[in-house]
Amino acid sequence: MRLAFGWRAPRRGIIGMIASGRIESVGRDVKSFKEGDEVFGMDGFRAGTYAEKVCWPATTQLALKPANLSFEEAAALPYGGLLASFFVRRLKVGAGRRVLIYGASGAIGTSAVQLAKHLGAEVTGVCSTGNVDLVRSLGAAAVVDYTKEDFTQRGDRYDVIFDAVGKRKSAQAMANSAAALTSGGVAMSVDDSFPRTNTSDLMALKQLAESGELRPVIDRVYPLDDIVEAHRYVDLGHKKGNVVVTVAPSVG
Ligand SMILES: NC(=O)c1ccc[n+]([C@@H]2O[C@H](COP(=O)([O-])OP(=O)(O)OC[C@H]3O[C@@H](n4cnc5c(N)ncnc54)[C@H](OP(=O)(O)O)[C@@H]3O)[C@@H](O)[C@H]2O)c1
Repeated sequence: MRLAFGWRAPRRGIIGMIASGRIESVGRDVKSFKEGDEVFGMDGFRAGTYAEKVCWPATTQLALKPANLSFEEAAALPYGGLLASFFVRRLKVGAGRRVLIYGASGAIGTSAVQLAKHLGAEVTGVCSTGNVDLVRSLGAAAVVDYTKEDFTQRGDRYDVIFDAVGKRKSAQAMANSAAALTSGGVAMSVDDSFPRTNTSDLMALKQLAESGELRPVIDRVYPLDDIVEAHRYVDLGHKKGNVVVTVAPSVG
């Protein structure tokens, strides 16, 4: 990540990769969007969304905002939703598969639970005590509280184990994950691959949000003036879903 975004500090003075807002103007060759369109999206390469305005090329993963979501809710979808879409596809999550999501209450985890459920999988979520109800409400058939129980010791077997926490914290718990796999089952961490995200997945997220099958989970909303506090909170590593930053008071 440092190679991509800057070794000692961010290459770009203004960071931020995700946004939802209203298009102010488009270049003359842009046909897919027009002034006034309400959009949401992510540009993993350019950054710059911690600002009132961002200038994105037409190649950015951008789509019309789900009609039923506020700008804050829409901004909470692309990061976790696109990464979860990549891994769910990679892991061949589908109907009838038994899937365990480790870290089911984070940004990627809350999306992964809902996408796996949408695809017909039988989902087990792993999270801490305070997030058990949240994860169940997202569609998990079973929830394991990792502060009380080790999922690898329950005797249950899964076709897919997806670590959405990240290896820095999950290494110990995931070390025994092979014991909880079915024969032919597969375990993967969110840190095992550099996810390739795409606009068609973003359109799919929009449709799922509009049909009520995908709910953006927002923990806290901060104004841009409180961005330091927002980052400190995220760095604690226990947010529920997403933290959203509002930039202009008129947006929302
Ligand atoms: N491959 C890539 O390009 C890429 C890109 C972005 C992110 N990532 C990885 O994805 C990870 C998750 O990102 P995120 O934004 O979804 O994180 P997040 O929203 O902060 O969620 C992490 C979740 O992990 C759980 N957790 C924290 N400490 C834990 C522990 N010791 N044991 C078990 N669970 C624990 C938390 O749930 P509780 O509060 O219930 O504990 C939290 O909900 C990152 O840490 C990073 O490693 C990879």
